[in-house]
Amino acid sequence: MSKDKVQIFDTTLRDGEQVPGCKLDAAQKLVIAERLDELGVDIIEAGFPISSPGDFKSVAEISDLVKNASVCGLTRAVKKDIEVAAEALKSAKKPRIHTGIGTSDSHIKYKFNSNRDAIIERAVSAVSYAKTFVEDVEFYAEDAGRTDNEFLAKVCEAVVKAGATVLNIPDTTGYCLPEEYGAKIKYLKENVKGIEKATLSCHCHNDLGLATANSIAGVINGARQIECTINGIGERAGNTSLEEVVMILRQHPSLNLDTNINSKLLYDTSQMVSQKMGMIVQPNKAIVGANAFAHSSGIHQDGVIKNRETYEIIDPADVGVNESSIVLTARSGRAALAYRAKIVGFELTKLQLDQVYQEFLKFADLHKEISDNDIPKIIEAANLKIESVS
Ligand code: KIV
Ligand code: ZN
Repeated sequence: MSKDKVQIFDTTLRDGEQVPGCKLDAAQKLVIAERLDELGVDIIEAGFPISSPGDFKSVAEISDLVKNASVCGLTRAVKKDIEVAAEALKSAKKPRIHTGIGTSDSHIKYKFNSNRDAIIERAVSAVSYAKTFVEDVEFYAEDAGRTDNEFLAKVCEAVVKAGATVLNIPDTTGYCLPEEYGAKIKYLKENVKGIEKATLSCHCHNDLGLATANSIAGVINGARQIECTINGIGERAGNTSLEEVVMILRQHPSLNLDTNINSKLLYDTSQMVSQKMGMIVQPNKAIVGANAFAHSSGIHQDGVIKNRETYEIIDPADVGVNESSIVLTARSGRAALAYRAKIVGFELTKLQLDQVYQEFLKFADLHKEISDNDIPKIIEAANLKIESVS
C-alpha cells in the first residue's frame, strides 16, 4: 500500500531567521533556499516581505531561483502586507501567500482589543483578498494551541469557504500536550464543514520540548503538512525540527506516512545552516548532533562493534553521516580499545590488550577523550614493542 505524503513546509528562512543572532544576508538565504529545494521540501517560507526591503528582495530572489518547491511569503491580515507579498512572489513558479490572525482569547483581547466576530471578519477578508493574487492561500490561526476548539472550527470553516487551501494550526507558545494537540486536529477534521478542500498543517513551537511530538500527533490525527526548520531553530526555544519529523515517519512504517525529503542530505544541510547562521548544533541533538551516532560506554561499544543495530535505530548513512563512531573515554572497554587500535594499525593479542588496557585506563582518567594519536603513546607506556602495520 502506498504511503500518504506529509508535505514539508520549511520555515528556516522566516521563523528560523527571525531569531536573534541568526540573521542571514541575501546571498546566504539564496544558497540555503537552493539547498532546501534540493533536499525535497515541498514549501519554502522565504520571508515576511513587508517586514523590511531586504526581506522583500530576498523573497523575490528566492521566487526567481527555486525550481520545484512552492515559495511562500508571510503576511498579517492586512491588505498592504498581502499586496507586498504578492509582488515579492510574482516570479515564483508556485507562489503561496500565508496570511492569518490571532484567534485565542488572549490575542483577541490584548493584541487586537477586538471580539470573536470581528476576528472572523478580518480573517475572511484577508483570505479573500489574497485569493485575488494567488490560488494557493494558507491561513494561520495564531495561538491556535490555546484557542478553544469550537471557535477555532468556526474560524477554519469561514476561511475555507473564502478559499483557503491550507489551514495552519500553530501551537504558537508551545503549550499543548501531544494528546491535546492531536485531539485538536481530529476535532477540526470532524467538525469543519468543507475541510476536505483544505490541508491541515502543524506549526509547533518547542517551549516545553514537545514540538516534534505535537507535530507527529497532528499527522497521526489527519494533518498532512508539518511546518519545521533545519536544526529546530525558531522563536524562543525553536520550532519543530525538520530532520526529526522526517526520520520519525521513515523509521515508523506502521504510521504509513512519508515525506519527499532526500534524507541523505540532512546532515550536510544541518551543517550548512549552522555555519551560515553561526548557531551551533548541540552535540546531543537527535539525528544531526555530533554525538547522534557516537558510542562511548563500554557496554554499548561492545554491542555496536558486534552489530550496529544493537544500539542504533538509524543507519548513519541514511542521514548522510559517514559512519558511527566509537569514542574512547574512561568508560570504554577492551573491545573499543582493540577496535580503535586496529584502525590505527596495531593488532593486539588478548594478553597485549590486557596490558595496554591498564595503561589506557590510567591515561583515560586524566583526559576527557582519547584520540587515535594517543594510542601509540599508551602502547609505549605499557612497555610493549608492537609494530604498527599501517
Ligand atoms: O508561531 C506562529 O504562530 C507563527 C505564525 C506567524 C504562523 O509563526
Ligand atoms: Zn511560529
